[in-house]
Amino acid sequence: MIINNVEIVDQYGRRKGNILVKDGIIVDTNVKGNYENHQVIDGSDYTLMPSFIDMHTHLRDPGFEYKEDMETGMRAALKGGYTHLAAMANTNPITDNFEMVVENLSKSKELNLCNLTQICALTKDFGEEFVDLEKIIAVTKVFSNDGKTVAGEDIMREGLKRSKELGFVLATHCEPEVEIVKRDLNILREVPGNLHICHVSEKETLNLIRKAKKEGLHFTCEVTPHHVFDNDVDYKVSPPFGTRADRQALIEGIKDGIIDLCATDHAPHSKEDKEKGSPGISNIEVAFSMYWKVFHEENIPLEKLSQMMSYQPAKILGLNCGEIVVGREANVVLIDENKETTIDIKGFVSKSNNNPFHGRKVKGKVMMTIKRGEVIYDNR
Ligand code: DOR
Ligand code: ZN
Ligand code: ZN
Repeated sequence: MIINNVEIVDQYGRRKGNILVKDGIIVDTNVKGNYENHQVIDGSDYTLMPSFIDMHTHLRDPGFEYKEDMETGMRAALKGGYTHLAAMANTNPITDNFEMVVENLSKSKELNLCNLTQICALTKDFGEEFVDLEKIIAVTKVFSNDGKTVAGEDIMREGLKRSKELGFVLATHCEPEVEIVKRDLNILREVPGNLHICHVSEKETLNLIRKAKKEGLHFTCEVTPHHVFDNDVDYKVSPPFGTRADRQALIEGIKDGIIDLCATDHAPHSKEDKEKGSPGISNIEVAFSMYWKVFHEENIPLEKLSQMMSYQPAKILGLNCGEIVVGREANVVLIDENKETTIDIKGFVSKSNNNPFHGRKVKGKVMMTIKRGEVIYDNR
């Protein structure tokens, strides 16, 4: 495959290129000459970015397939420009054992849509007993009880210790946010661990994180599109929407680099479940456009968004992609970066359209998603 005359944007910046892909790998970014027997994609109207990698998705599979299943979630993700998802463990039953992780991984291979990191619960049924970490570490390097806060300080301390010993990432849902982030950062001051803090949303949390990073503590954190996009929205999400000051603090945190990455926390729910109070937003197919609208307004360049949506998650998940560089997998996305679009939840591919932003203006449109040199979503 060749992608011709395209504007490339990744974390390194902006340049013109002609991409040559062989056996799913980028082998040249400035190829010249005649490649007649190749599939040629004319990139002259578009921007080529590394495809997006979501550290935090809820695919609801198994057990909540009426909200989403692996296939619909992955199709929604491809429409949003994602080729790799890390799926949370709050399924039904909870994904808390080797067999369930393996089952979802093989299901994703059969589907051949997005690549999958299947996150495993840290504790059995999100309770107080650890899962079989030594065994499960062979099939996933991310553990999380997301949806629920890790119960006690002792479990958290032991979990962080084990994350360092075994080499996995412990991703945390923190409720109440300030109190639990404070607790976990204090633990991290005693025992080194691989901590990733999910969906930070409050100004005070950002202050704790900034201070800890200045001290030299090593950990990562993420934001969601919805907390960055708007504040004071009357819609149930966990953590809840913040104030204008909270949202401004998130934007400052993005600008000064203390927030490591942009995830989605795509959390599909049926209409009935939302009415019963389930928290969450279905957002993966509009996440890029929501982020890009805010980044553009705040004069944050697209290369910074690429770093936060692709490079950083690739690094944390240990993937050979996330930048447009020779030798990386050709997981890329063609974007119309200047296109103004409107969120239309009626057109969602996801099974659930629980999203309060119907009709809102956003920026940029995903035109094509390519995984290992194969066009897997085409919207031109
Ligand atoms: O809004 C949320 N929804 N936050 C979470 O932590 C869980 C998620 C869900 O599973 O619905
Ligand atoms: Zn959460
Ligand atoms: Zn979540």
